[in-house]
Amino acid sequence: MDFRHQTLALQDLASADADALLLIIGAEPKGLALPGPLQQLIQDAFAAGDFAIKPGRALYLHQPAGMRAKRVVVAACAGAAPKAVRAALARALAAVKELGGVKQIAVASAGCGAWTRAQALAVAVAVGEASYVYGHTKSTAPKPPAWKRVTLLTPAEDAAEAREGLRRGQAIAAGMTFAREQANRPGNFCTPTLLADAAKALAKQHGLGIQVFDRAGIEKIGMGSFLSVARGSEEPPRFIVLRYDGAAKSEAPIVLVGKGVTFDTGGISLKPGAEMDEMKFDMGGAASVLGTFRAVAELKPRINLVGLIPATENMPSGRATKPGDVVTSLSGQTIEILNTDAEGRLILCDALTYAERFKPACVVDIATLTGACVIALGHHNSGLFSPDDELAQSLLDAGREALDPAWRMPLDEEYDEQLKSNFADMANIGGRAAGSVTAAMFLKRFTKAYRWAHLDIAGTAWKSGAAKGGTGRPVPLLTSFVLAQADSRSATRAGGRRAAPADAPATPAAAPAGRRRAAAQPEAPAAAKRASTRRARA
Ligand code: BES
Ligand code: MN
Ligand code: ZN
Repeated sequence: MDFRHQTLALQDLASADADALLLIIGAEPKGLALPGPLQQLIQDAFAAGDFAIKPGRALYLHQPAGMRAKRVVVAACAGAAPKAVRAALARALAAVKELGGVKQIAVASAGCGAWTRAQALAVAVAVGEASYVYGHTKSTAPKPPAWKRVTLLTPAEDAAEAREGLRRGQAIAAGMTFAREQANRPGNFCTPTLLADAAKALAKQHGLGIQVFDRAGIEKIGMGSFLSVARGSEEPPRFIVLRYDGAAKSEAPIVLVGKGVTFDTGGISLKPGAEMDEMKFDMGGAASVLGTFRAVAELKPRINLVGLIPATENMPSGRATKPGDVVTSLSGQTIEILNTDAEGRLILCDALTYAERFKPACVVDIATLTGACVIALGHHNSGLFSPDDELAQSLLDAGREALDPAWRMPLDEEYDEQLKSNFADMANIGGRAAGSVTAAMFLKRFTKAYRWAHLDIAGTAWKSGAAKGGTGRPVPLLTSFVLAQADSRSATRAGGRRAAPADAPATPAAAPAGRRRAAAQPEAPAAAKRASTRRARA
């Protein structure tokens, strides 16, 4: 998808050159200062009750007089919130989705204020969401919408914010598409081996570092807990390590850890049959890590990023781990496996221990971890768990900004008692009460060496029913978080400095002027000092 922006005042919309003009309207048409005939049409429809400023309302106009655009779709936007913009745009896109003649789309807004960064981001994400179709295992691939180019029309004064929002939004949309595609592929088309192959292809295409460990390699590392999950499967496990190096080697990376269970039968603690097919989505955390790398590789922030993905199936067999078995994790702590269906935490704990060797600035794990989280929060918010208030707040903010919200859950030490075992250092389940919390408490025992947060995406990574499929969440949250971290580090780096040279060496090619330039500065003494204290502490 080709996204661009063009400066065009609202009064000049008549000259907008597109197969379809999507006009988002956030206020009653009277006084919007649209081109005369269009203004009149919308006002008349409004007066007749055919159009209203309410969510979901839209008006399709075919070749309206005086307009260069062949079609105009007017969509109501209830308020100027980015969420409302996304909904209005989704509605407008639905009206032109089936039309083969719509190759170029222009998007304008009236009565919603100047385009903000968040609004422009929402536009790009909405286009990305509407553009995706799954075809990998269909004998004839379904047709995606015909649109190839989307131009955001911006009045002159808000162009810089809109441009940055669009830049971020289109990268996030590409990351979401990647994540959705991987998640949607059936278990026999997305084995640990194939998932690792997809990660390798992504790395090759976008210049990322990658290392993939096979079973022998994982044994050598000593990931006994991870391997205990893989035991029952004929498909060999993989441990994927991805790297994006956008800053000096000395800078502590953000580490993202994604649960990559490519199919979860429950193992010997077999799941019931109904809807078990949806357990192909149990690698949604891994998919979101890959999608975030896809977005970050394109946006090129000044930051270092590591992705860790333990990938395996969870299967019953004569060799499978049994309830009551005790295994030794990479950390040395022993675990009594009381339920083989609580496998996500068993593979994550070893990846979390492995994360220590990167001396990370922080670690965020992402997992379709518990059905209990779906009961607690439903399908709108991901569950966020962290003992670190500042890190938690940054993640909540990133989710809100990118329309990919999370809700903070507790981690009080009282919950830890539920993990007591008579035969090992801990049990892998904590009973029915607060199931998503005890799962997080289990992980917490492996994260003492760094700042850590956990996202339980069991309710948000995919949709069931008629719209069954991966959502691409939480790629928006994670990408915004990474960008915000990079931004705040550049702010610190640039602290005390005034102007930066325009030709600073590592300026990302696509970066806009000004703010980004400061980001291209070499590590300032203050930041360098902090980094080395961090290293010393770790
Ligand atoms: N992958 C599931 C969690 C899940 C279940 C996500 C349903 C979305 C929908 C996870 O591996 C699992 O099975 N968790 C168990 C844990 C229990 C045995 C303590 C669960 O939630 O039932
Ligand atoms: Mn399970
Ligand atoms: Zn699972």
